[in-house]
Amino acid sequence: MSEPTRSERFLRACRGEPVDRPPVWLMRQAGRYLPEYRAARAGVSFLEACRDVDRAVEISLQPLRLVGTEAVILFSDIFIPVLGMGVDLDFSPGPVIARPIRTLVDVEKLDVADPRGTVPYVFEILRRLRSELAAEQVPLLGFAGAPFTLAAYLVEGKGSKDFGALKRMMYREPALLHALLDRLTEMTVAYLNAQIEAGAQAVQLFDTWAGLLSAADYREWILPVHQTIARRLHRDAAPLILYVNGGAHVLDAMIEAGAEVLSLDWRVDFAEASRRIGKRAAVQGNLDPCALAAEPARIAAWVRELREAGRAARGHVLNLGHGCLPETPVEGVRAFTEAARSLQ
Ligand code: CP3
Repeated sequence: MSEPTRSERFLRACRGEPVDRPPVWLMRQAGRYLPEYRAARAGVSFLEACRDVDRAVEISLQPLRLVGTEAVILFSDIFIPVLGMGVDLDFSPGPVIARPIRTLVDVEKLDVADPRGTVPYVFEILRRLRSELAAEQVPLLGFAGAPFTLAAYLVEGKGSKDFGALKRMMYREPALLHALLDRLTEMTVAYLNAQIEAGAQAVQLFDTWAGLLSAADYREWILPVHQTIARRLHRDAAPLILYVNGGAHVLDAMIEAGAEVLSLDWRVDFAEASRRIGKRAAVQGNLDPCALAAEPARIAAWVRELREAGRAARGHVLNLGHGCLPETPVEGVRAFTEAARSLQ
């Protein structure tokens, strides 16, 4: 059998079809750990870089050439479509919301207009990337922040360790949080479907903060949102990858979301989780991003362990348990992808 293209290997792994070995990419593979990223960003704010199609295309492609990842993810941020809803926000370096959401009037001001009209550059970047990647047959990923994670910042106004303002809203004013999540869900469905239409071959939903909830609250507040999104996406055209950080206690509810791939953080025992998931989904993950500071030989050994552990699930995509950090050594990233590509 001839070697599959990178697109074939990736999409088969996501859909749980037989593959020679798991494909590899890294969350936040384009970022400050790369000197070439810092050069492309010199004198330009993060938001400007996200809006500048040429620059965003160049940054998206950097990891492919520089560190050997086998999929390209759109360079953007989960807050870009939120700008399209009329929210005044900036990055410093994380999102800072000028007027946090407090009332139903604030929620009703959030515009759910067609993202193709409000943030057209996102889809232009995807179309350009798809045509650049066509000859090499490298898969292109789109992404969105999940409604709960977006709401966490919109209510809190900025990043936080425990997102107390959001949780207080959840317990004190549940109708208000439901209204906010409903709007964000509408936007997310339209945004991801428009990305698929523009050429994204798989999409990842980042619910970074959903793991802050108890298992019971997760079932009540998060699972129905994920199920709605999964049901309404054009998944015949692009499989869905669901990422939850700190979600070891909600793995069963993650499975019920119906995504093709479940992306797990490093605190989950990958072998046990893969067995538990079994034929119900593929798994993605899950090396601790900090572990890329280790010797290349140790990184290679972890990659082989992950590969063996992932066999119990329907499919496996090699990745980290969270994004690359600004301090991540480029050598460690290369060691990770090289070890993945040399798996038998
Ligand atoms: O994976 C990729 O390479 C694609 C690009 C991408 C970015 N952000 C670029 C970015 C993706 C998928 C994201 C997702 C994102 N953004 C999440 C969910 C995933 C996660 O990491 O938990 C969240 C919560 C955000 C919000 C956000 N954006 C924060 C908290 C920060 C600051 C902290 C940090 O890690 O830098 C950002 C800024 C941001 N988004 C940068 C990049 C490359 C750094 C901006 C810079 O270069 O100064």
